[in-house]
Amino acid sequence: MNDSRPVAPLSGQPISRKRFIDWLLGTTFGGLIVAVLYPVASYLVPPPAGESSVSSVTLGVKLADLKPNSGQIFKFGNEPGLLIRTSSGDVRAFSAVCTHLGCIVEYDTEHQNIWCPCHNGRYSLQGANISGPPPKPLTPYTVNVRGGEIVVSKEA
Ligand code: FES
Repeated sequence: MNDSRPVAPLSGQPISRKRFIDWLLGTTFGGLIVAVLYPVASYLVPPPAGESSVSSVTLGVKLADLKPNSGQIFKFGNEPGLLIRTSSGDVRAFSAVCTHLGCIVEYDTEHQNIWCPCHNGRYSLQGANISGPPPKPLTPYTVNVRGGEIVVSKEA
């Protein structure tokens, strides 16, 4: 039994039930393909992230507010930085991006060095990679104090 009676018109002309079901299945399948491919394509194509043009930042931190043997993350353009005050009072700053796979490093007050929690990588207080998988040292920044506030700059 072939039922090809016209059904409700969509564009002014009656269409057969078979054509309507074909159209419905075709658009549903097309929608499914788009719904699957769009997130996959969005995941695979990274968003544009231009290199930070910032060469210097003034932190809202006064030198007197930094306790010895402490560290804190700060924003250096679109990258994180790590500001450290050693137990002897020196102030140092580095890129906080681990040179292994890009995790954010932190200051380890117990061992008094820089630690990457992702794969237990360690850096010295000079930024040198001393244990674990990091292949290179952290990028150092220059630290100055202007008007009592800490200013961090990229090294030339
Ligand atoms: S990402 Fe830092 S040790 Fe692997």
